[in-house]
Amino acid sequence: MEYQIKNAEGKLGILIPGLGAVATTVIAGVEAIRKGLSQPVGSLTQMGNIRLGKRTENRYPLIKDFVPLAGLNDIVFGGWDVYADNVYQSAMNAKVLEPTLLQAIKPELEAIKPMKAVFDREYVKNLDGTNIKEAPTKWDLAQALMQDIENFKKENNCSRAVIVWCASTEKYTEESAVHQTIEAFEQGLKDNDPNIAPSMIYAYAALKSDVPFANGAPNLTVDIPALVALSKELNVPIAVKDFKTVLTLMKSIVAPGMQDRDLGVRGWFSSNILGNRDGLVLDDPDNFKTKEVSKLSVLEEILNADINPELYGELYHKVRINYYPPHGDNKESWDNIDIFGWLGYQMQIKINFLCRDSILAAPIVLDLALFMDLAHRADMSGVQEWLSFYFKAPQTAPELKPEHDIFKQLIKLQNTLRHMMGEDLITHLGLDYYQDLVEAL
Ligand SMILES: NC(=O)c1ccc[n+]([C@@H]2O[C@H](COP(=O)([O-])OP(=O)(O)OC[C@H]3O[C@@H](n4cnc5c(N)ncnc54)[C@H](O)[C@@H]3O)[C@@H](O)[C@H]2O)c1
Repeated sequence: MEYQIKNAEGKLGILIPGLGAVATTVIAGVEAIRKGLSQPVGSLTQMGNIRLGKRTENRYPLIKDFVPLAGLNDIVFGGWDVYADNVYQSAMNAKVLEPTLLQAIKPELEAIKPMKAVFDREYVKNLDGTNIKEAPTKWDLAQALMQDIENFKKENNCSRAVIVWCASTEKYTEESAVHQTIEAFEQGLKDNDPNIAPSMIYAYAALKSDVPFANGAPNLTVDIPALVALSKELNVPIAVKDFKTVLTLMKSIVAPGMQDRDLGVRGWFSSNILGNRDGLVLDDPDNFKTKEVSKLSVLEEILNADINPELYGELYHKVRINYYPPHGDNKESWDNIDIFGWLGYQMQIKINFLCRDSILAAPIVLDLALFMDLAHRADMSGVQEWLSFYFKAPQTAPELKPEHDIFKQLIKLQNTLRHMMGEDLITHLGLDYYQDLVEAL
């Protein structure tokens, strides 16, 4: 099937629920890059190349030159938060970026003020902001968000918009009856059903406004049949969930290597300390549970003990997140991996990653926004599994197991781009090079 991709004409609004550490780091980053002060390191859309054709052709264009993405100068940022701080104040509070860098883009950041949030303390206990919408029902709140989106697009002259959820992790919830069909969900909005989380109201408003929705946190949000059905019905892409940045990034890099070499894994203990507001929210057990569930499946699904019980049947996997204010956004993570090799001889791998949480997450937000806009212009709707590369817990069709191996995820993403642009898919078979040689002799 040949994709007819509409041009990226006009401005693209990137609307972000949650203007905290991650959101302000991406917004300030894009402003700094636009001014030539920094480079978009870590962003596949901005710095990544893609191979086209055979290796002998030497065609490796930048992805942004290969597919018609919105340009950085055509992006306008906006968002919602439960705190009224503008993006400059919020970025200063987050302490991710240097004050001197923020000073250089202060007027642009100060101009972005959060719209009033849809918020429910039942879902996030550790926050007490007051920049919150009031309305009799969740249905009215959804209408208010749709009005915000429409106003934002009009005021900023945007031809299109996308939403990337960067707000706090909501408490753990499971699917219930109200999540099963569009009708039940809409009735639930009108009845103020307690099982409808604020993030679901944003997602509903996005889809009804023809705006793609990506979820950077582990909340259920669009992972429910009602919203998947709505995204298909209205022809809008969705992609979820939970940005893959630190512990899970390490797992999806290292575990496939162990499995590819048929090395056994008996235990994997991952722990980190972080002191930002995200860490504070995750200090509540109900919110941590949401994160834990999203993190735990990765290893089990990569190593797959069902297929290879001798190597992975005994795997003990534990994840701990600890709130430790002195470290701020500078997360430190440790992995202790107990592996075994030839004849069962034991070995250990230790990883100590001294990282920066929001520096790793920011390029993901940018890439997701640009790729979701591309997908929408290419008429792709529903679950965008080709964007699994960016997520800890990728969404798939109900009967499919998610692919967590980051290298396979990248191949899937690149082949999707090739497919969209009518280029040959790359299988890495490579036998034809030798076949040609033989024939040439
Ligand atoms: N490496 C990473 O930083 C990383 C990785 C994966 C996932 N995440 C997730 O991304 C999200 C953002 O992380 P962060 O470090 O920026 O956190 P943060 O606490 O700095 O920012 C979150 C912001 O969301 C706001 N908020 C909460 N509920 C809201 C609502 N209903 N509507 C609008 N705003 C709301 C909060 O007031 C806060 O300003 C978190 O859910 C986090 O778990 C982050």
